[in-house]
Amino acid sequence: MIRKCLFPAAGYGTRFLPATKATPKEMLPVLTKPLIQYGVEEAIEAGMNTMAIVTGRGKRAIEDHFDISYELEHQIKGTSKEPYLTEIRAVISKCTFSYTRQVEMKGLGHAILSGETLIGNESFAVVLADDLCDAKKGVLSQMCELYKKYQCSIVAIEEVPKEDTNKYGVIAGNEIEPGIFMIKDMVEKPDPKDAPSNLAIIGRYILTPDIFDIIRTTKPGKGGEIQITDALLVQAKKGMVLAVKFDGKRFDCGSIDGFVEATNHFYTKSKKAESKK
Ligand code: UTP
Repeated sequence: MIRKCLFPAAGYGTRFLPATKATPKEMLPVLTKPLIQYGVEEAIEAGMNTMAIVTGRGKRAIEDHFDISYELEHQIKGTSKEPYLTEIRAVISKCTFSYTRQVEMKGLGHAILSGETLIGNESFAVVLADDLCDAKKGVLSQMCELYKKYQCSIVAIEEVPKEDTNKYGVIAGNEIEPGIFMIKDMVEKPDPKDAPSNLAIIGRYILTPDIFDIIRTTKPGKGGEIQITDALLVQAKKGMVLAVKFDGKRFDCGSIDGFVEATNHFYTKSKKAESKK
């Protein structure tokens, strides 16, 4: 039912400088795959076939990654190295990619609004590729199932230590089914003492298209940026926004600790898979 997935990928990735000086953060690899490819694969698994990517200056490598490299194909076709291209070939054949630029970095809400021309008037998913998720059933698939039932905007949440609430959007709500909350309040990066709970929003959203008009009228909030959390709170007050505790593990690959943790996790997993062969 949800066909399109938006990837806001215009941020500067300053925490990874100097690596991100000329390489987009979304192209940093965990093992051999760039972060954004994990996100695209999760979207494909959830049945989506149209990837819309919001980029900025210096992000051309993302476009090149999801395109055919004729020179490379020519060089390794028929050799023992060809299997290395299997996964990316499969991704490219299963979906289309379109791009738009966020001209100024005015926050995640603004980045999502920049993607409106690629999305149009339909519900869509949003993936922040630096939140890398590993789950038996992909987090977007879990959210799509919930969307089928409720047809409203949905955010993925997880419990975080109270002292970390100032790194996330934090929700408060009524639990309507086990692990599913109807959002009553939402605050961007609250001080632990002001946080309405320890339920933090992670980088997976399903948004109904009325969110674009709401973002258009959303004033800059925390940090002078247009926050998606502020727009979602308006949507929650007008109608309904749900938050779902997903099954699986999330790694904050926008931070060095999270990135190293993800690398170790996927390395151990791949070694285990290899030893079973
Ligand atoms: P972050 O704040 O985590 O990413 O934004 P960043 O700014 O690239 O990282 P640091 O803090 O400088 O190290 C979360 C996501 O939202 C996107 C980013 O690309 C990232 O995927 N984003 C954020 C935009 O696309 N545009 C914005 O104006 C802000």
